Amino acid sequence: MTHQIDSFEEYKSEYAKSVKDPKKFWAKQAKTFHWRKPWKKTLDWNFKEPKVKWFAGGKLNITENCLDRHLKDRGDQVALLWEANDPKEASKSYTYKELHREVCRFANVLKRNGAKKGDRICLYMPMLPELGIAVLACARIGAIHSVVFAGFSANALADRINDASCNIVLTSDAIRRGKKVIPAKLVVDEALQNCPSVKKVIITNCAGIEVSITEGRDVWLFEELKKVSAKCPAEEMDAEDPLFVLYTSGSTGKPKGVVHTCGGYMVYTEYSFKNVFQYKEGDIYWCTADIGWITGHSYIIYGPLLAGATTMMFEGVPTYPDAGRFWKVVDKHKVNQFYTAPTAIRALMACGLQHVKPYKLNTLKVLGTVGEPINEEAWNWYDEHIGKGKIPIVDTWWQTETGGIMISALGDKGPRKATYAGYPLPGIQPVLLDPKGKLIKENEKEGLLAIRFPWPSMIRTTYGDHKRCKNTYFSAFKNHYFTGDGARRDKDGMYRIIGRVDDVINVSGHRIGTAEVENAINQNPVVVESAVVGYPHAIKGQGIYAFVITAGKIKNEEEVRKSILATVSKEIGKIAKPEQIQFVAGLPKTRSGKIMRRILRKIAEGRHDQLGDVSTLLDPSVVEKILKDFLKK
Ligand code: WT7
Repeated sequence: MTHQIDSFEEYKSEYAKSVKDPKKFWAKQAKTFHWRKPWKKTLDWNFKEPKVKWFAGGKLNITENCLDRHLKDRGDQVALLWEANDPKEASKSYTYKELHREVCRFANVLKRNGAKKGDRICLYMPMLPELGIAVLACARIGAIHSVVFAGFSANALADRINDASCNIVLTSDAIRRGKKVIPAKLVVDEALQNCPSVKKVIITNCAGIEVSITEGRDVWLFEELKKVSAKCPAEEMDAEDPLFVLYTSGSTGKPKGVVHTCGGYMVYTEYSFKNVFQYKEGDIYWCTADIGWITGHSYIIYGPLLAGATTMMFEGVPTYPDAGRFWKVVDKHKVNQFYTAPTAIRALMACGLQHVKPYKLNTLKVLGTVGEPINEEAWNWYDEHIGKGKIPIVDTWWQTETGGIMISALGDKGPRKATYAGYPLPGIQPVLLDPKGKLIKENEKEGLLAIRFPWPSMIRTTYGDHKRCKNTYFSAFKNHYFTGDGARRDKDGMYRIIGRVDDVINVSGHRIGTAEVENAINQNPVVVESAVVGYPHAIKGQGIYAFVITAGKIKNEEEVRKSILATVSKEIGKIAKPEQIQFVAGLPKTRSGKIMRRILRKIAEGRHDQLGDVSTLLDPSVVEKILKDFLKK
């Protein structure tokens, strides 16, 4: 097992070692895992191409490290706990032995259905134990999993399946979210009308609703499981073989497939999990994220299981059957570490303390947040009412591309400051740059957040398009990975993340590209053009504000609004629906035709005194018109 830091003094000395000799530092951590063959070169890199290889030549299978290596010492310890959407439904648990067995069986089902090493398999599933098992089953046989959050629409799902040419889709009859039952298989059926690469669909039974079966393509998991053995040797992988693809939005174009590899990702997720959450033997750890996002990959499945932890999955939503559900579950399962998102905290905060008061919450040792900057009010509420003022909050900053937590406190080991993520983890070398790329050395300064040295779990490429990886992350500043975030460093060197500096909106901790939403809106036949920006939203952090030009005058605004929302739901999914739509006659454009989103952002944010110089616009009068209508709303 990797090293667990036990004091702030030790953090400082480990950090210093990790910067002085990163290769030595990570080689030492990596050696604690089970490798079939040792690696030849600890690190080989340049950020120009970019090329980053950690532990190249090393052979391993990540599931042998998540499962097999724990069987001897903790075979009967619970590995995976599962809490159902419906509080009346019994929870489930799998010991390491049982989880190992289920993963092997699922892996054999995949093989029976034609899966082999290197294939891409798409998972579009609810938060059932079978989702966690399926992820590991893919890794067991060396297939690359691509989990798509089950809130995305058929079109968005089809795009992702096609981008990676997946040959198998894993899904379920339905998804249960609170009172709702959403027909997942129906969405898959619709998507697959445009996905020629898919040969098989394996369906898990969730809600028992009827589904249509395409003979020769669709099979039921429970039927398939009857036909397989519980023995499945793990495929031998190179450290730099891809482990998974996960799609995420950027400021331009369609979502891209972020590729993570086996060895480095393994080392860093285990190390960061144990250190940030200060997980101790016997603890119960709960991360409320969905496995459809990176948080679920790294800190529900891989990190915790690699560390031999007991990790919990929750199928439901925070407000069902009422806004006390999280706290009820914390008491029920005696949760020690609890990891959630600021948007959930704000939503529960708004529901009132009567939902918190009935619960003891006395098993909690560490609270975590992730996904967006946490405002002071939410931080204080979390601290006072959930932590009872006694336990540390770790505000963890990271990204899909970073694979693991980059900046965070390590449990109670060291100083913490409200709304500051804090210090970088050992091995992470953040810097602040000015817009020209000049290094900002002083403290008490704001700048663009970049990373100047590779770390084991960093993005290797964007699937099928390495140039896009280079352009998006490695071209803005020479020899740096650029995060897209702005940050502030205080007098003690602690980092506070300010937010995105690009055309990315963070809605409830989910990343949505403005271009993506605009493309969706423009699919609506009455729309001529649109521009989308983010604005502050009390619960979601940011909301989506759309300025829309329609063809001709519209009679019924409400109807057109509804129709635009339906278009966005269809093209992307409900999570991308704009909160506000304002119809406009023209958009502020430069003489070369570029939409000035900066001006629109200021209007939507209500910062009308900061519109700046509009005289260079093609038609400055449009700004006045938009502002006038905005104020009328
Ligand atoms: C973006 C990454 C990493 C898992 C969840 C989101 C924002 C993330 C924090 C934090 C302030 C944060 C950043 C980042 N972000 N964590 N603790 N404080 N901002 O993953 O979808 O890849 O989004 O989320 O803007 O760039 P993601």
